[in-house]
Amino acid sequence: MAYQPSTDRYDRMQYKYCGNSGLLLPRISLGLWHNFGSVDDFGVATDMVKYAFDQGITHFDLANNYGPAPGSAEINFGKILKENFQGYRDELLISSKAGHEMWSGPYGGNSSRKNLMASIDQSLHRTGLDYFDIFYSHRYDGVTPVEETMQALIDIVRQGKALYIGISKYPSPKAEVAYEMLHDAGVPCLISQYRYSMFDRAVEAEILPLAARYGSGFIAFSPLAQGLLTDRYLHGIPEHSRAARATGFLKIDQVTEEKVEKARLLNELAARRGQTLAEMALAWVLKDERITSVIVGASSQKQLANNLRALDNLAFANEELVEIERILRL
Ligand SMILES: NC(=O)c1ccc[n+]([C@@H]2O[C@H](COP(=O)([O-])OP(=O)(O)OC[C@H]3O[C@@H](n4cnc5c(N)ncnc54)[C@H](OP(=O)(O)O)[C@@H]3O)[C@@H](O)[C@H]2O)c1
Repeated sequence: MAYQPSTDRYDRMQYKYCGNSGLLLPRISLGLWHNFGSVDDFGVATDMVKYAFDQGITHFDLANNYGPAPGSAEINFGKILKENFQGYRDELLISSKAGHEMWSGPYGGNSSRKNLMASIDQSLHRTGLDYFDIFYSHRYDGVTPVEETMQALIDIVRQGKALYIGISKYPSPKAEVAYEMLHDAGVPCLISQYRYSMFDRAVEAEILPLAARYGSGFIAFSPLAQGLLTDRYLHGIPEHSRAARATGFLKIDQVTEEKVEKARLLNELAARRGQTLAEMALAWVLKDERITSVIVGASSQKQLANNLRALDNLAFANEELVEIERILRL
């Protein structure tokens, strides 16, 4: 039977304006970096996207190279859309990115105009979309002048291939150049995408205040530290977990005793709040007014369901925050 989205989906989610824009993002977005590639189960992937949409998740985050194989997450997502979401394009917010290694040769993996222009066409083709809602420069590549990359993004918007643009992982001085130029061109930086979790707080020093100052929304990736901030690794490395999979970006040696011990203590604190560690970790990121949304990954519908429950309690007592700081400093 054809998929019929839940009728009360928008009552189930909380939405927040992205920076100074008029665009509402769901507080929880779904990322397709892992678990949506050609090596993964297409049925599980399809069910997760449908379930996400049923819960009011309107935002799905892709990149040209997501898979593996690179490109296959876009192909699979395009197929899921075609088979299930005909007529729903205007209810979906779909992003993609270019800038990491994607195809061979000198133009397949940097932030040059050549790469971005070719990449967005490839991504549109793979997904079968007419446009992306958000298109990102995936990284500052260390060589390409920021002005060249930003001009390409501006032109992508003017060509109608993306509605909004964003930057990801730019060091703060380069981000500032980007924000200035985009502002002056009348195509402001809608959103900044960076890693942010209790285990990785580098953005707190400069990036978060800078993005807020320029009215850019902020979306946090790997808010669960790829699973380390969940109960996943409290009793060893489970089979099929990201750390156990050859294709996973979380390496076994990143599952350190120190991280697991902190997760154990945080898990106890979460339990006292009536939450799982995953729920508390997401709530902790979302409590900051400057955070528009978190992009979670999931390998099952059950995980996604759990993550969505974070929204039931985003408030922290001061003593809980102090206790979290103490644990993180151990
Ligand atoms: N801009 C960039 O450079 C960049 C970089 C990285 C990611 N991203 C974006 O951010 C998205 C999310 O990144 P991420 O996948 O690293 O996020 P994450 O949410 O930190 O980690 C997701 C993983 O955590 C585990 N997990 C999730 N929910 C769980 C739960 N309730 N209980 C137990 N385990 C749970 C699962 O691992 P198992 O597979 O072991 O079950 C899942 O695959 C990506 O898909 C991508 O869209 C962007």
